[in-house]
Amino acid sequence: MNICCIGAGYVGGPTMAKIAQKCEDIQVTVVDINAARIAAWESEKLPVYEPGLLETVKEARGRNLFFSTDVDSAIDGADIIFISVNTPTKTYGIGAGKASDLKYVEKCARQIAKVAKTDKIIVEKSTLPVRTAESVKRILDAYGNGRTFQVLSNPEFLAEGTAMADLDNPDRVLIGGEKDEASQKAVQTLVDVYARWVPKEKIITTNLWSSELSKLTANAFLAQRISSINSISALCEATGADVDEVAYAIGLDSRIGSKFLKSSVGFGGSCFQKDILNLVYLCSHFGLTEVAAYWESVVTMNDFQKRRLSKRIVSALFNTVSDKRIAVFGFAFKKDTNDTRESAAIHVCKDLLEEGARLAIYDPKVDPLQIYQDLGLELNSEQITICTDQYEAARGAHAIALLTEWDAFRTENTDYAQICTEMEKPAFFFDGRNLTNLDEMRAIGFESHGIGKV
Ligand code: NAD
Ligand code: UDX
Repeated sequence: MNICCIGAGYVGGPTMAKIAQKCEDIQVTVVDINAARIAAWESEKLPVYEPGLLETVKEARGRNLFFSTDVDSAIDGADIIFISVNTPTKTYGIGAGKASDLKYVEKCARQIAKVAKTDKIIVEKSTLPVRTAESVKRILDAYGNGRTFQVLSNPEFLAEGTAMADLDNPDRVLIGGEKDEASQKAVQTLVDVYARWVPKEKIITTNLWSSELSKLTANAFLAQRISSINSISALCEATGADVDEVAYAIGLDSRIGSKFLKSSVGFGGSCFQKDILNLVYLCSHFGLTEVAAYWESVVTMNDFQKRRLSKRIVSALFNTVSDKRIAVFGFAFKKDTNDTRESAAIHVCKDLLEEGARLAIYDPKVDPLQIYQDLGLELNSEQITICTDQYEAARGAHAIALLTEWDAFRTENTDYAQICTEMEKPAFFFDGRNLTNLDEMRAIGFESHGIGKV
């Protein structure tokens, strides 16, 4: 069997590496129009940082895992084609700012329709609005030529930073198909691929629309939990309660559960905001105004949370950060990834730059060029300095803003006492991830602030 995956990004690369690792007899080819990305997948420095990814890629690369820019050949040779291209929020025209931009998906469908000479199973791996499969199938079928295409939905639930573990041991694999015999046969073919390593009871099959909608719903529910606890963090700061204690207390209720209740500077990442806005757009499209407003408030609360931290920093630093050096610990949207898409750090840094601060930024994995790009700065800008470690960043700074929860920034891994001696006084510490014990930081000499803590 031959598998082709169109899109060698954060999803396409890791998922295909896992399939290739687990199914030695299946040839897996990951293709992309971005030649630099493909070259990086073939090198020692992969374009995506994920713990365990390089090892998995190395195990399969050249054996049954290949990376290529020759999209046409890979399509033609494949039995199953995964579409794993980006589906960002539309920035223009109808639905701008909310709807998913499906132009990349449509391009894939047209290319497959033009190039394929034999029957194919097309798998939507990208996150898509409900009923996209219908459009994909119509485009594929419109070209005729006597080939048959089965379109399945197989959304990906991996989280960045834990992608390889998630793929190894998923909570579930979801496959959506149509009721007819041919579609069910295609569903079974895909089930059989995953069944090589995923227990059968975790592979669930549904109709196409349930599968597409389950992905958006899962992300909306996860993000909603974070916005809910973040809303309570503001109340904690006003009342003297401690958000971590509240989260722990409510999380012990088995109906609530303890996961995804960590209050923070706000959720980031390429998925949550985009997928909720997509859901909001869908609800509005179907005239469900109240439902749309309900989900949109999750994003509104997240924006409020990001701004709250920047405001707090300015107000604590005697209402001005102008010309003050502020050390930024972490720029990725969460630990163990080099991904900065929608990172809360971008928003906090932009706010501080607007206030005239000079930022000294350190992130263990993010490419410095990416930071300049995300902040909209020229490479020679003196407004920021990219540092090689947290010590360099904090030297001479008035404040530290810890924005990503990298293990390296834990008190057992960073000598905060040493750092404090080399800072301006009072030395401020803003923990946007509640990673440290604020009392310990105070004992060291910091004026410390956390999220949802007085
Ligand atoms: P990404 O931007 O990292 O990768 C997408 C890749 O597709 C890019 O390298 C781009 O060059 C390539 N591409 C676009 N059009 C192409 C074409 N016509 N032919 C060949 N290559 C093309 O995106 P991602 O983070 O991997 O996300 C992909 C999809 O998976 C999105 O729909 C996203 O919502 C979904 N998803 C992402 C995650 C995640 O954690 N990042 C998790 C679950 C689902
Ligand atoms: C998310 C979903 O978890 C995953 O299932 C889906 O496939 C893609 O979108 P991802 O965005 O990679 O994954 O990471 P996730 O762990 O969900 O974190 C998203 C953001 O929420 C991060 O900024 C993280 O720091 C933040 N977060 C997460 C919190 O602030 N508190 C929490 O309790 C959990």
